[in-house]
Amino acid sequence: MLFDNHNRPITYLRLAVTDRCNLRCFYCMPESGIKYLPKHQVLTYEEMERIVAVLARMGVSKVRLTGGEPFVRAGLMPFMERLAATPGLSELHMTTNGVLTAPHVAEMARLGMKSVNLSLDSLDRARFHEITRRDELPAVLGTLAKLLDHNIRVKINAVVMDGKNIDDLYPLAELARTQPIDVRFIEEMPFNGEGNHYPKLTWTHQRILQELRTFYPDLQALPAEPHATAAVYQAPGHVGTLGVIAAYTRTFCGSCNRIRLTAQGTLKTCLYDNGVLDVRALLRSGATDADLTATFLKAFAHRPKNGFEAEANRPEVSESMATIGG
Ligand code: GTP
Ligand code: 5AD
Ligand code: SF4
Repeated sequence: MLFDNHNRPITYLRLAVTDRCNLRCFYCMPESGIKYLPKHQVLTYEEMERIVAVLARMGVSKVRLTGGEPFVRAGLMPFMERLAATPGLSELHMTTNGVLTAPHVAEMARLGMKSVNLSLDSLDRARFHEITRRDELPAVLGTLAKLLDHNIRVKINAVVMDGKNIDDLYPLAELARTQPIDVRFIEEMPFNGEGNHYPKLTWTHQRILQELRTFYPDLQALPAEPHATAAVYQAPGHVGTLGVIAAYTRTFCGSCNRIRLTAQGTLKTCLYDNGVLDVRALLRSGATDADLTATFLKAFAHRPKNGFEAEANRPEVSESMATIGG
């Protein structure tokens, strides 16, 4: 097992396969999009496979593909197939916005993908359009139906936004009544790619939970899974669950088992660091697997104990979630 300097196991890599996206969720990027990386600065699939193989040998057992939107990158499925065969890797997951996903679901099931996290902030077509600046709700719902058909567990990520989708909380929560869906409501984080124009958070996890209890007074708390971001609840008689992710007000640092690799190959050992290692440069200068392993070990020996607290003192956050990989 791989441990960091605070004795936390490192088992989970969030791998951003692209910084590009086909939606423009306003909490993530401006209408004009973010300044995308030129192609040569993005890791090739071969480079990603090599990094994952090294990390898997060191002890990472779970990889979540993120973006941007993973499916806007050509060749994603063959890449996933190769990745799924990496020795040591036992879990392959994905976070997707569901716009281009439906045609690939059968193949994802065949590769053994057991769960997918789907971004979905509203079930109302006009509001979905307003939030994402694209009219793609029907495509996303098509993906949701396909995932359920193929028995892939779905976690829905709904960012809670004052004045935007509060009326959607109940219809979204109701998805869990008859279907095996985990609907997670997320505090909005200041990663919108636009600097510090961030309004004070009004929908905290306590307020979200209070709202859910008005719909379901007998909501039961379920035991928390280790390393999970969500506090999970279930309404009596429901098949799925309801979760609240205190992404902004709470720290997950104490049990954090995650590292991140951005699309340009920067290793982040904490969501809030600015990148601690340029893995792309290392690879392209001819580093061997042994060099990579030694350099990773050094990075893992300097993980901050609580990056969240340090970030609270940082005045301006200008990164987009699409660059970080969520
Ligand atoms: P699993 O536990 O593997 O299901 O992943 P997840 O729920 O963390 O991943 P997902 O990509 O669905 O992200 C859900 C929300 O949690 C998003 O808003 C992420 O930005 C947020 N998130 C993910 N990791 C962290 C973290 O380390 N800290 C904080 N504060 N938020 C995170
Ligand atoms: N705050 C909270 N969650 C966000 N996501 C993207 N931007 C933000 C933000 N500013 C979520 C999306 C996606 C996940 C990877 O990150 O809902 O599902
Ligand atoms: Fe794209 Fe996800 Fe950002 Fe929305 S939140 S613009 S779907 S990367």
